[in-house]
Amino acid sequence: MLKRIPVSDVTVGMYVQSIDGPWLEQPFWRSRFLITRVEQLAKLRSSKVSSVVINLDRSLGAAKPCTRFRTRKAIDPHSAQRRAQDLIVAKAVAADARRFMKNVFDRVRTGKKIDLAELDAVIASITHALVRNRSMLLGIMRLKTSDTYTYFHSVAVGTLMINFARELGLAEDQVRLMGLGGLFHDLGKIEISKAILNKPGRLTPGEFDEMRQHPVLGHDLLMAEDVPPLARDVCLHHHERIDGGGYPQGLVGGEISLAARMGAICDVYDALTSNRPYKRASSPVAAIAAMYSWEGHFDPKLMFTFMKSIAVFPIGMLVRLRSGHLAVVRDNGRRASRARLTVFYDISTRRLVSPRELILSVTNVSELIVEAADPSAFGLDDWTDLRGQLLSGIDPTLRRKGMGAN
Ligand SMILES: [Fe+2]
Repeated sequence: MLKRIPVSDVTVGMYVQSIDGPWLEQPFWRSRFLITRVEQLAKLRSSKVSSVVINLDRSLGAAKPCTRFRTRKAIDPHSAQRRAQDLIVAKAVAADARRFMKNVFDRVRTGKKIDLAELDAVIASITHALVRNRSMLLGIMRLKTSDTYTYFHSVAVGTLMINFARELGLAEDQVRLMGLGGLFHDLGKIEISKAILNKPGRLTPGEFDEMRQHPVLGHDLLMAEDVPPLARDVCLHHHERIDGGGYPQGLVGGEISLAARMGAICDVYDALTSNRPYKRASSPVAAIAAMYSWEGHFDPKLMFTFMKSIAVFPIGMLVRLRSGHLAVVRDNGRRASRARLTVFYDISTRRLVSPRELILSVTNVSELIVEAADPSAFGLDDWTDLRGQLLSGIDPTLRRKGMGAN
């Protein structure tokens, strides 16, 4: 099947059947080819070509113009063939984006200009890979080696920011800026010595002071470039904390922009889930549980939306579901991209119901977690005991009936 689409909608994995426009203005010597690299995308986007014809049958999987996550129902995302193709796309996008960012950082280091059109191609290919298979791309992004950590981390934070912004329902141009902010958030580290960046142990107070300069250094570098203010703001303020205990300015709560509050969450989550010279990576669930317990560090509402964006929640958390039920989050082992819940309470009748298991995933759209719930608001004053029973697989309605009969 052939489909004509604007160049702005072309992504990695699409098979270009023909390029519209005069031959002389075409950027490729072949007119039929599979787009496998971000460089091809960047070349196409910066050319005078406005539209191309895509061969959907020869594209990887069902490569289509970007759509929201929840429009993927028709494709079986769990088929082995589909997952194999998703893996090819995710690995190619991650490798391209990392190479690109290394190049961009190197150019900035030598005083050269940043090409935002190229970065748009990176952001478009990341967005496309997220739409294809979010958990697979996020999994690939967690794999890093220490010598390339800064670039890999930048790409991972950019990816988490794009995913987060989409979960918040932000407009496409805002999603792009959030992605740009993530890609550049640690740019200032190019001016920090490698000995400090890769030190396998605690930094001395003096070294820590130098490290703390990187947001301001990065912001200064971006001021000299044509980078939009929102992305610069993520760079300057991603180490602020909502209780004012962060740096460089010690901003409090609403003084910190939405973008910077999002950046702070994505940055710490990726750092915790990455292997570093001085520590092993935490699992996504352990990282989320730790971050959720740090009072005053992150915006709690945004923290919860971030959990929804990666479908990872702390084990034992009480959540309210769209269906009007309460559920407790259970351990889902290695399948962290699918939240496993035990539904046990009907809000409309304010009664416990027989527990039933529910698995949430990007393709299960019949149920959604709405928010973290306060046990006392539902009369669950014995929540610690009740949670223990539910997590142990005990049906609390049976026990309560039994206790009432004695
Ligand atoms: Fe940083």
